[in-house]
Amino acid sequence: MLNEINQAKKVLLGNRKKGYTLPTNNKLYPAQWNWDSGFIALGYSHFNLKFALEEINTLLRGQWNDGMVPHILFHDLNTNYYPNHSVWNCGNKIRSSGITQPPILAIMLRKILEKIIIKNKDKFKIKSIIKKITKYHQWLLKYRDPKNSGLVSILHPWESGYDNSPLWDKPLNAIKIEKNLKYKRGDNKIINPDFRPLDIDYDRYVTIKNHLRKNKYDPKKLYQNSMFNVVDVGFNSIFLKANKDLLSLLKKFNLEYKDIQNYIVKSETQIEKLYDKRKKSFVNYDIKNKKKITAPSITNYFILFADLKNKLINKEIIKTLRKHNSKDKFFFSSIKPNNIKYEEKRYWRGPVWINCNWIIYQGLKDKDKKFANLVRRKTIDLVKKSGFYEYFDTNNGNPYGAKNFSWTASLFLDLILEKKYN
Ligand code: GLC
Repeated sequence: MLNEINQAKKVLLGNRKKGYTLPTNNKLYPAQWNWDSGFIALGYSHFNLKFALEEINTLLRGQWNDGMVPHILFHDLNTNYYPNHSVWNCGNKIRSSGITQPPILAIMLRKILEKIIIKNKDKFKIKSIIKKITKYHQWLLKYRDPKNSGLVSILHPWESGYDNSPLWDKPLNAIKIEKNLKYKRGDNKIINPDFRPLDIDYDRYVTIKNHLRKNKYDPKKLYQNSMFNVVDVGFNSIFLKANKDLLSLLKKFNLEYKDIQNYIVKSETQIEKLYDKRKKSFVNYDIKNKKKITAPSITNYFILFADLKNKLINKEIIKTLRKHNSKDKFFFSSIKPNNIKYEEKRYWRGPVWINCNWIIYQGLKDKDKKFANLVRRKTIDLVKKSGFYEYFDTNNGNPYGAKNFSWTASLFLDLILEKKYN
């Protein structure tokens, strides 16, 4: 055990640059990613609090003036990554992408602070982090839910974090690919193309990205006329949980919390509109095309993480979740294996992801302890068997994608060490 714990720490430290950590040490992701950094901060908090807070602080240094926290910060401008900083052509103090990612910072910060006694001299610094996160959440309220419906939209599949999920197939199919697109992918030169998105899907990602740029990333305009506008269950569940955690931090630090509190009340009831009573599961809503999206994605179960008060729905969801991988040795697969869209090796279209398991485990803990422990055990065993990889095969546990993957190492540490603090 000790050996694996040390290895996990080594992965994080090995990927660490000045003040932030790369998702992996190969060339696949040579920048700082938003939700990766949140997971990474949690991992550091088990052995180096300074690095944990620095990870978050560096990400927030890239915050835009309007409050948005970008999905990628390009600290190093000299890489072969596509789309790189010049293609995005935006950023505030740090060159960045022009979209965001699941807002997990408040969740991670609260978890980190629970473990420590905050010294008086650090209070000011932490308060300033909380204020920045609040500004970020307010940006989501204002620009991604302009009608104050209680649910926020994502305007690009990459904002979900599960970039290549079948959840996006229908809204992407409706997009007309830009004529004469010229770009050079880097990802499928580093990793087997069979494990990465198809070129046609990449063309669509790039088309949406170019459209955002053409509109100067103007959040007000883009909510109305973006080529892609989806209310995603996973993203909204994470945001609801993050708002709940932010509320607790705001109260603890005597900061204004009314807006966030009101929004939580609204989201808590509105999110139930995404519940499909017949399927006994949550589904996405495609605002652009006015259609439900029913792909059986594991991220639909992030609703458990949101800790809805509705006990009946929670119970039904857990029942459906048990069927997701009832016959498989390794779980949870990103897409239900009997689904037509399922692909064993392609990323986000089948394989197991440690961050998804971690999120669902957190959601199950106080609702079904036995099931939660099974998820925890299975996740730890999978990483022990196959290593700190990006994702894993549901059938045989084989590892795929990038090796020395930071969030796998981080969340492994958190799962294995959490008992100490409970
Ligand atoms: C991929 C994933 C995304 C992640 C990024 C860096 O793009 O889909 O969720 O943040 O890699 O690890």
